[in-house]
Parts: sequence; C-alpha cells; structure tokens
Amino acid sequence: MNSDNLLARVPLFENLGREDVDKIFKAARRRNYPKNQVILFEDDHGDALYVVATGQVKVVLTGENGREVILSVLGEGDFFGEMSLIDDEPRSAHVIAMEDCELLVLLRDDFLRCLKEAPDMSVGLLRAMSQRLRRADDKIGNLVLLDVGARVARLILQLADDQGGDTINRSIPHNTMAQMIGSSRETVSRTFRDLSEKGIIEITRETIVISDREGLKQAAGIK
Ligand code: CMP
Repeated sequence: MNSDNLLARVPLFENLGREDVDKIFKAARRRNYPKNQVILFEDDHGDALYVVATGQVKVVLTGENGREVILSVLGEGDFFGEMSLIDDEPRSAHVIAMEDCELLVLLRDDFLRCLKEAPDMSVGLLRAMSQRLRRADDKIGNLVLLDVGARVARLILQLADDQGGDTINRSIPHNTMAQMIGSSRETVSRTFRDLSEKGIIEITRETIVISDREGLKQAAGIK
C-alpha cells in the first residue's frame, strides 16, 4: 500500500496534510507477520505503535485456564499499541495476527514526535479512542444486560455495519465470534441455526446475509 492509499484508509491520518503523512511514512518501518503470530504480548513494555496495512488482528485477553476473550478485531487502516506509549504502562492486551498481515511500525519517539509536530493527529487519535471506549462500554452493557441470543444478533448487526451493508463474509469462525461476545461456539452455532430457520439471516458457505433486518434488531433487543 503506498502513502496515498494508506492516507485514504487510516482515520488516524485523515486530517493530516501531505507533508505530515510523508513524515510519518519516512519514520515508519513495514513488517510482515504470519497468521497466528503474537505481535504484542500483554504486560510487555510498549515501544511502538502499529498500523494495519493489510490483514486482520485480534486484541485478546487470556485467563489462567487459557480461555480467551476478544476485545476487538482490527483491520486495514486501524492502529494499535498506542496505549502504552501514551500512559507508559505495560501492554494492556495481546495482539495476534488472525491472517497474514503487513503492518506499519512507528517507534515510540517517532510517534510522540509526530503527535507534537502534527496536532491534527492528536484529534484523530482522540476520536478513535473515544469510539473504542464506546464499543467497550457497549460490550460491558451487553454482557451484563443481554442474553446470549441477543448478543449474537447484535454481533451480526455490528459485523454487517463494519462491512458496510447486509452481508458478512464468513472469514470469522464461530469460536472467534463466541470469544467476541463471551459465549461458546456451540451456542453461537445454535443461535445462527435458529435465526436462519426464522428467515432472519441466510447462511451460505461464504457469507451470512441479513434478510430481515427488523427481525434481527428485534432479536438483538433494539427497538
Ligand atoms: P497497548 O496497551 O499499548 O497494547 C495493546 C493494544 O491493544 C492497546 O495498546 C490498544 O491499541 C489495543 N486495545 C486494547 N483494548 C482495546 C479495545 N477495547 N478495543 C480496541 N483496541 C484495544
């Protein structure tokens, strides 16, 4: 991806002028990570910010019994690793490649310098962090207030919105979806079958299509 493409896809850089983006590109390195490789370890010291140029990563917490909860799935144009650079605390979670990824890596000093030299980047950063906090708030609310069926329905709506329509490509397996909503693979699969039998979603080998958005919203507890 060249700097023009990335500029268009990275909300963090969207308010920056050409010169500022070029500065960031000069300072950044590109690195490739194969599927399943851990990119950041929870509790490690943070020394860089990452931008996803291609591929998808998951932000994960693991329990002592090896159970995983996925806090977020990040794709092209998203960034991660900013928290420890900002608050000087250890990494807050693991970040793992869900598929082969190409990442742009900005070392701590370069990131902090870019923030100082390009104040518009701070605005983009604050906006993105507010959106993440909103999603995290939603997730906490959903875990406490909704049953599993409604959580699955909301996840389908969210994934469809992320992909800009009523169709989700099935690159995310059921066990990963379960880890995104604090449930089990079996429950997610059963809920998918129920929704499909009711004609609310249509499942094919490659896609899930929302055929009755109102019905899905109702199942999600959204009026
Ligand atoms: P850092 O704590 O440096 O390392 C782990 C990164 O995961 C963190 O920075 C954020 O970039 C990212 N992260 C942590 N929690 C969330 C979340 N709830 N949503 C999206 N990204 C997150």
